Amino acid sequence: MAQRAGGGLSRRAIITSALALSACGPKNAQGQSVPADLPPLKTVAPFRVGTCVQAMHLADPAMAALLAREVNQLTPEWEMKMEYIVQPDGSFRFDAPDRIAAFARAHGMGLLGHTLIWYAQAPPAFEQLDESRISFVDAYRNYILAVAGRYRGQVVGWDVVNEAVAEDGHGWRDSLWARKLGDFEHIALAYRTAREADPQAPLLLNDYNLEYNPTKRATFLKLAERLLASGAPLTGLGTQMHVAADIAPGQIREMMRDLASLGLPVHVSELDVSLTRAENKLLGRAELSRRQTAVYAEAAEAFMSLPQRQRFAFTLWGLRDRDSWLKKENGADAPAPFDDAGRPKAGAAALVEAFRG
Ligand code: G3I
Repeated sequence: MAQRAGGGLSRRAIITSALALSACGPKNAQGQSVPADLPPLKTVAPFRVGTCVQAMHLADPAMAALLAREVNQLTPEWEMKMEYIVQPDGSFRFDAPDRIAAFARAHGMGLLGHTLIWYAQAPPAFEQLDESRISFVDAYRNYILAVAGRYRGQVVGWDVVNEAVAEDGHGWRDSLWARKLGDFEHIALAYRTAREADPQAPLLLNDYNLEYNPTKRATFLKLAERLLASGAPLTGLGTQMHVAADIAPGQIREMMRDLASLGLPVHVSELDVSLTRAENKLLGRAELSRRQTAVYAEAAEAFMSLPQRQRFAFTLWGLRDRDSWLKKENGADAPAPFDDAGRPKAGAAALVEAFRG
């Protein structure tokens, strides 16, 4: 149980104990009992609640039902990225993202475009571009115009550039895009081109570890300010929040306060709370689960503390444990707010509690 230096119980410990006591519903896979009548997340939040999704998930009736019940925004987990869209011959395929867009439309959900430009993905068609036939800048622009243009009027926003800041927070990432078009210019050009393709869509800058690394957070904010000063149509900030259950209490609140300082809408864009990535290897599973619940509570409360105009959306990176990307790293992880069967965990109850304000 998290104790304050003076021996008193931390706020987080009080929340988790209260949630544990309040729970009286059926037990889930973690042996946690949460209220049997827990309302859907989207019905209690005064902003959109989302999750990442893959086209194959939509063919699973249980998953489709869980999505329809709990969220009103979807982020394609990988099928709206270059790795899926750009074929070796330079052609584009859109079958999977179109299916996700159609499901979102059919269920009245927002679609968050993710992501146009990412240092981590530079397909061979770009790496080996024949620049005697087309300039690199035209190929770059054509991609953004084609993808953002295709979903014009369907998206609630775009992660135009993902993870532009260096891992250690000192400077920006190297990438094919930076090498070809300039460190800053390729980023500013991406926002201008996305705006050309879609005159209305909110255009966000998305990154991770902003709660763990104050240096990275400061560099992220400086990049955002430089984009704004250059006239680039940046209109929102995304903080991914892939965190571990033993993140120090208060780090998330501090990060949220800093991000809000620019006055732009903030998107909690990829929240999951890993048990197995916890640095403290001496915490038992039960303690890690308790801390996970409190981290969900802190993330939701920190977001709720923003003015309504700055609460863009609150997106989980997977509703069910079984679908999480983290399971590929460690099958024992259980980072999501719902268990493998889609039953709410204490983390889901904590989100509902906080969203209710
Ligand atoms: O489903 C196909 C499978 O049919 C195929 O056989 C296999 C081999 O190529 O690929 C499978 O697709 C994989 C997909 O995940 C689904 O599992 C892709 O290769 C793999 O690249 C993709 O990884 C995604 C990753 O981004 C890269 O796009 C993860 O699911 C996704 O969770 C992860 O998400 C990122 C965010 O976009 C940015 N922030 C960090 C976050 C976690 O890394």
